[in-house]
This record gives sequence, structure tokens and C-alpha cells, in this order.
Amino acid sequence: MKSRVRKAIFPVGGLGTRFLPATKAMPKEMLPIVDKPLIQYAVEEAWDAGIEQCIFITGRGKAAIEDHFDYSYELQHTLTARHKVEQLASCQQSIPHAGSFAFVRQQDPLGLGHAIWCARHLIGDEPFAVILADDVVMNPGGASCMKQMVAAYENYAGSLVASVLVDQNATSSYGILDVESEGEVLKARHVVEKPSPEDAPSRWAVIGRYILEPAIFDPLDRAVHHAQTTQGEIQLTDAIAALLPETPLYGIKFDGVRYDCGSKVGFLQANIAFALERPELAEPLKTFLKTLDL
Ligand code: UTP
Repeated sequence: MKSRVRKAIFPVGGLGTRFLPATKAMPKEMLPIVDKPLIQYAVEEAWDAGIEQCIFITGRGKAAIEDHFDYSYELQHTLTARHKVEQLASCQQSIPHAGSFAFVRQQDPLGLGHAIWCARHLIGDEPFAVILADDVVMNPGGASCMKQMVAAYENYAGSLVASVLVDQNATSSYGILDVESEGEVLKARHVVEKPSPEDAPSRWAVIGRYILEPAIFDPLDRAVHHAQTTQGEIQLTDAIAALLPETPLYGIKFDGVRYDCGSKVGFLQANIAFALERPELAEPLKTFLKTLDL
């Protein structure tokens, strides 16, 4: 019987250089969409998908993430004393079950593949999810992106990636699927990391949601040992490609809108879109937007 997806890796070891100076002393993943940090959206998505264990790949300067998912006794005490019930509840909402979060240090940010490899001892021999907090997916009233992927994994064992259609001139920012057949899901014969628009095999891009088989640690192991001599970045896409065709690759065309919050424009778009979903913010925000001479 196929194993259930119980564990998720959250790589948060990157430097977040596109958001400097904001990210000089604060992790990119703590940037808020309205009033909730990116990483909390990611964790709530994992919980919604039935994930029981969350593994964070951290680096220097990322301690705020660990603190965010812990008690803040002083704050709780003050909120309780002031009868701030709602605020207290919003702080408690991000507290996990004891023992369900683990933090692994990635000493050098050597790439996403390296970040995943750092979790190899905690994953063991079972499939696992990967969620990049800087891709935020909104699907109001529907299943979260990872929940849709976990459901798809029931029928499509292998490497699963969430996929969106991007403009031809944007292919060089993504892993791009070479699509063999397109039905309910995309079956890919290959995946290419950041191809130029001329070389891109399709416009189907991989975004920051994956379900991977533990076999992925074999090509990652080889890449890590090779990188010790070449100093190259270790790409997760290359490892997924190396498992083909024995481990098939599927692109999941999920319901929902994805915001690339690793970019400033995507981050601003997400803030507006999420604020417009909030009854108390939608009207004043719309009124303000109308005053802009666009
Ligand atoms: P990005 O490519 O967005 O890099 O990583 P970054 O460092 O976070 O941001 P910029 O480009 O400098 O602005 C995608 C995801 O992979 C994680 C990042 O934290 C982010 O969630 N990552 C990347 C790691 O955990 N370790 C790495 O070595 C690289």
C-alpha cells in the first residue's frame, strides 16, 4: 500500500536578497500578507492537507520563525489581562502540537536541492511534501493547493509538482515541464531548470509545491558530493529529472491563484488580493484604490 504524505519540508534558508533591506535582520518568510507571515500561510496549508510533521530548513538570522510558532508568555499574559480575546486567539492559532516541528540548520544556502537534502535523516523512507512559503496560493472556499496535491497523489504516485502557465518570456525564472500528455494532470517526460524562452519545452512552470518520493535523496546525494568539487548550486529540479523515467513526473493544475511573494510585485499583489477578501478591509481599500489615478 502506498504511504500517506505525513511530513512536509519548509525550506527557509535562503537569503531573500530581493527584499533587502527588509530582510537584513528579518527572515523573508516573516513578511506579512496583511497581518499573517508568509510562513504561517504555508504551515496552515500543510495542516489543511493532513500533514503531521513540519521540518524547517533554516539558516542564520531565521530564529524569528522558530519563535513565531512558540508561546509568547508575556504577550499572552498582557492580552489576557486586557481581555483581548480575538488577538489572543490569533496568537494561539499558530502553536503546533508539541514535537511536531523540527528545525534543521542549512549552514550554507547552496540551493533548494541542498536544503531538501539537509532533511534526509528526518524524512527516512516515505513520501513527503515540500512547500515554499514565498509561493502563496489563494483558493477561497476551496481546498488548499497542497490538499489538492495530496488527493492527486492517491492516483499518481511519483514526483508531483504544482504547475501554472507562465508567459513565454518568463520561462527563464522557473523549472519548465516538457509535457508528454495533458489530461486531468500533466504527465511530463522531462523538466528543465530556467530555460530561455527559445529553448523552453512548454509554458508550464513548476511552482513551490512538491510531493516527492524518498528516492529523490539518491540524486541529491550525488549532487551534493559533486558540488563539493564544483561549488555549484544544487537544484531540486535536476534531481527530479534524474529520477525519470522510473519515477514519473506529474504537474498538478490546481484550483486557485498563485502569488510569487519572492518578488516585490507578487508580494504587493498578494497583499491587495488577500485584503480584498477580508470584509473589514475590502471597502476602505477599494475606496482608496479608486482614488489612485491609474
Ligand atoms: P529563492 O530562489 O527565492 O532564494 O529560494 P531566496 O534566497 O529565498 O531569495 P532571493 O532570490 O535572494 O530574493 C526559494 C526558496 O528556497 C529556499 C528559500 O528560503 C525560499 O523559500 N532556499 C533557497 C533555501 O532554503 N536554501 C537555499 O539554499 C536556497
